Amino acid sequence: MKVLVVGKGGREHAIITALHESPTETEIYSFPGSDAIFELAKPVEADGVASLISAMQELNIDLCVAGEESYLVKDEGLANACAVAGIPCWGPPKEAAQLEASKEFAKEFMVRQSIPTGGYSPVETIDEARAAIDGKYPTVLKFDGLAAGKGVAVCMTEGDAEEFLDEVLVQRKFGPGRLLVEEYLEGPEISIFASVVDGDYQILAPARDYKRIYDADEGPNTGGMGAVSSLDMFEGDLRSVIDETIVRPTVEGLQNEGLPYRGFLYFGLMLTENGPKVIEYNCRFGDPEAEAVLPMVEGDFAAHVFEGAKGNLDSDLVSFKDGWSICLVSASAGYPASSRSGDVISGLDQVSDARVFHAGTKLNEAGQFETAGGRVLVVVASGSTREEAVTNVYRESEKVAFDGMQRRTDIGTRNF
Ligand code: AMP
Ligand code: GLY
Repeated sequence: MKVLVVGKGGREHAIITALHESPTETEIYSFPGSDAIFELAKPVEADGVASLISAMQELNIDLCVAGEESYLVKDEGLANACAVAGIPCWGPPKEAAQLEASKEFAKEFMVRQSIPTGGYSPVETIDEARAAIDGKYPTVLKFDGLAAGKGVAVCMTEGDAEEFLDEVLVQRKFGPGRLLVEEYLEGPEISIFASVVDGDYQILAPARDYKRIYDADEGPNTGGMGAVSSLDMFEGDLRSVIDETIVRPTVEGLQNEGLPYRGFLYFGLMLTENGPKVIEYNCRFGDPEAEAVLPMVEGDFAAHVFEGAKGNLDSDLVSFKDGWSICLVSASAGYPASSRSGDVISGLDQVSDARVFHAGTKLNEAGQFETAGGRVLVVVASGSTREEAVTNVYRESEKVAFDGMQRRTDIGTRNF
């Protein structure tokens, strides 16, 4: 099977690795990819959805996997264009991908489908925002569009809120768009992933990610500094509560509203005192959660995705190992405000009992990997207990270093 994976980060490196290790034989292509990904996949060049489709047709690609979200809503939409070209695509059409691309669309969908989520008001101006906040802190402000995970501010004080309002509505840091003022929800977070195939779905192993740059969940939000995954995180009846109140109504809602969906669907949930509530949907796997979850897959991941993209969900194709998997991100100097490139990474060949997925690296002329992005790489290790996985991931990560490296010391420990 010839498969093309869209994306270039740690998540796509993990997806490509899982495809490569599947019993189904695959010949893997990558767009835009990275030097580390090109060790497993052949590069494909394109400059938009249409040219990517032409490239896939020329190569006789059997399956397109949308690792990241941006192409799902770009131009005519990756999945829409694949459908026209007759190429099975794992990732939803543009219309359904609004669940991620527009926070207001997602909120309205949840209200229509009675899916638990925080209250909200959409606003356009600073005055409307101040009126909606109404002096109540903490409050949550969300830019209504794709902002690479940086469009959300949890504001503890009026000062925090005013700063974010200025960035978004005055400086227009993320471009034009509305803002949602959202009810602040409290509780541990959990990331739920489902493989959705029209009206059918399979819930995968859950995860928890760590979004703040510093230990103890301090400092600015990032794309994610680490993640933990285990089936044991489904304590008591949590899995069935989430299934009944959130996953099933979402899948049925998509069906009822004529929004076909084939692909991973990510539910960012807050486990509040009043039950799980949806913080956000993403129309793809999480990053860095994918790096923690996918090494736990058993069975035939490539067949799972290929059959799913063709409309068949066979829940016997994949299952998840027992135990715990933890991924730890190493980020470059300056992240998340900026990122420094060109710092040579040492020790990659010393890592023995773990996997390394590259998020932002490139090969230099001397053939060494160097930093080329904010999140640079992810080390993933497992253990039969969470504590063992923590020990393993930190022991292996310590072997890898580069100048200016930033790495949290409490991944897998905090929030448990
Ligand atoms: P998002 O980009 O929507 O995932 O939001 C980023 C992070 O902001 C989430 O992982 C939460 O930690 C936090 N967050 C988002 N919405 C809320 C909310 N309504 N209440 C409390 N925290 C939130
Ligand atoms: N880890 C959060 C995300 O992928 O959006």
